[in-house]
Amino acid sequence: VNILVSGASGLIGSALVPLLQTAGHTVSILVRSTPNNTGAVKQIGWNPDAGQLDATALEGFDAVVHLAGENIAGGRWTPEQKHKIKESRIKGTTLLAETLAKLSQKPEVLVSASAIGYYGNRGDVLQTETSTGATDYLGLVCRNWENATEAAREAGIRVVNSRFGIVMSPKGGALAKMLPPFLIGAGGPLGNGKQTMSWVALDDVVGALLHCITNQSVRGPVNVVSPNPVTNAQFSKVLGQTLFRPWFAPVPSLAVKLLFGEMGDALLLSSTKVAPVVLQETGYQFRYPQLDGALKHVLGK
Ligand SMILES: NC(=O)c1ccc[n+]([C@@H]2O[C@H](COP(=O)([O-])OP(=O)(O)OC[C@H]3O[C@@H](n4cnc5c(N)ncnc54)[C@H](OP(=O)(O)O)[C@@H]3O)[C@@H](O)[C@H]2O)c1
Repeated sequence: VNILVSGASGLIGSALVPLLQTAGHTVSILVRSTPNNTGAVKQIGWNPDAGQLDATALEGFDAVVHLAGENIAGGRWTPEQKHKIKESRIKGTTLLAETLAKLSQKPEVLVSASAIGYYGNRGDVLQTETSTGATDYLGLVCRNWENATEAAREAGIRVVNSRFGIVMSPKGGALAKMLPPFLIGAGGPLGNGKQTMSWVALDDVVGALLHCITNQSVRGPVNVVSPNPVTNAQFSKVLGQTLFRPWFAPVPSLAVKLLFGEMGDALLLSSTKVAPVVLQETGYQFRYPQLDGALKHVLGK
């Protein structure tokens, strides 16, 4: 089938595009730079900031996967950065959804990224797709980001809001940031280590996205997390063992807050225990359901 991907240069997109091609699909990507059409993947230009997207170029796709947005963990959450994180998602998603809604040949499905930040800091209470959303900064960003797909839903497009957990890949994201201290034996649990981390292996992220594209009964919010979340202390232990660096020292909460500010509080110390109910009920088989297997694979151990 014909699939369009936004944010294709990111951590998830750069794994998704080759998988889709290997599975025999024709992939085009939305790029914010000037399109360069010398390669195998067709590029279509857009400028989500300026509200520019050529509708005629979007006619006839079967599926659209929307991953674009300012990196959430890219740096300290200054007021400007928080504005960028929110605006890039709401503007870009609204523009894409409204453009798709007006097409004469609409896609069957729009899979639009969201995050488990939707649920906020919930201790060890298990969150499912029907749990209520948080009203903190990230919770509201996620809610507005999901609501921005409404025009597509109203136009009859099947919309999936994929709420990604903490994606495990050595190439980027949370794990890449955690590796350096662990490799020198200085990594350890953050804060009291009791916060739950709902992690997911990158292979399962792309597997789940393919499942959402091809499975017509999947719609609405979908938690893309492994079925076995762990506490931060358990995570640190397994990561240390995988790297053969079993010694670790805890990093106090205050240090995390000083180093990362509000972002550290929201992403590293907050506890969100999430279950992949929709994926499991619709028959998705996880390739890496357990953390030790996932980390061994991801880290090539
Ligand atoms: N990785 C995770 O652990 C995780 C967890 C939860 C949710 N998510 C969400 O899932 C989506 C994909 O994740 P990812 O890890 O692949 O993200 P990523 O590596 O940060 O890539 C996102 C892509 O979005 C585009 N982009 C960057 N800044 C932008 C801006 N200001 N406006 C519009 N587009 C911009 C870029 O692609 P182009 O330059 O090609 O346009 C970039 O490569 C993101 O929205 C992310 O928030 C990820």
